[in-house]
Amino acid sequence: MSKRKPSRPALTPRQRAAKRLPSDVLYEISVQEPEPELDFLQQVYRERNGRLPQLIREDFSGSAFNSATWVARRAGNTAIAVDLDKRALLTHSKRHTASLTPEQRTNLRLVHANVLDESLVKAAKSQVILALNFSYWIFRTRVQLLDYCRKARAALQPGGVLIMDFFGGSDALVELEERKRRPGFTYVWEQQRYNPITGDYRCAIHFDFADGTRRRNCFVYPWRLWTIPELRDVLADAGFARTDVYLEKEDRKGNGTGKWARTLSAPADRCFLAYLVSNG
Ligand SMILES: C[S@@+](CC[C@H](N)C(=O)[O-])C[C@H]1O[C@@H](n2cnc3c(N)ncnc32)[C@H](O)[C@@H]1O
Repeated sequence: MSKRKPSRPALTPRQRAAKRLPSDVLYEISVQEPEPELDFLQQVYRERNGRLPQLIREDFSGSAFNSATWVARRAGNTAIAVDLDKRALLTHSKRHTASLTPEQRTNLRLVHANVLDESLVKAAKSQVILALNFSYWIFRTRVQLLDYCRKARAALQPGGVLIMDFFGGSDALVELEERKRRPGFTYVWEQQRYNPITGDYRCAIHFDFADGTRRRNCFVYPWRLWTIPELRDVLADAGFARTDVYLEKEDRKGNGTGKWARTLSAPADRCFLAYLVSNG
């Protein structure tokens, strides 16, 4: 029997370039798309206030991709990006801030802090607070999540909205691996462990390359899997007058249209994405 290792397939230039990228960049290519998120933010704020917002706060901002895109979008837009991870916030954000004009740069504040910090409640009140990519699932008890929602509400201007995204459906409740092709690499989402007794939910992101190698556990999320009714109860207890649920409208073939509408009931799909928008 030959002991020679099987040779790995040669990588194309694009695959080689992807393999050299840091995991944070591969993450952004895989899961972040600021423009549609910011369109949605403008839509829901305008629905409630009849005008566009200017001052937003992006919680769990990572590299502040959304915030940097926001200040570049329209003159006068300002953003506060908050994250605990100093490297993501101060180093990786340079990818997005490098192209900003000096004025846009002064309209962006990078705040290295815990989103639960009291100082954020005392800072300038925002018109919109974003908590995206399910990051608030880091709060695994009702007490912690309620604390976050109360503080977020206290940091909003009158008419302000808190926007949280959400995924659910029966597929969310099982341990599985989902693969998505991206240019030069494959993004792998793994639901590694779900404990139905506590709701504890461990997910991870890996990146696979065409030569058969895997960059494993680049991002690991020790979350709790929440349901929409639980979240709405917590948000009501935090003082929000209403929480609307938005689902993406589909065309006749069942494909997403990029347009989101308030929904009171939905089919029991195996997998769905939603936004929870709270105000009042
Ligand atoms: C899933 S990433 C989200 C990154 C990016 N905002 C996005 O939408 O893809 C979660 C981020 O939340 C940050 N984080 C976790 N707990 C936090 C806390 N208590 N306060 C502030 N940031 C926190 C992590 O450092 C990480 O950058």
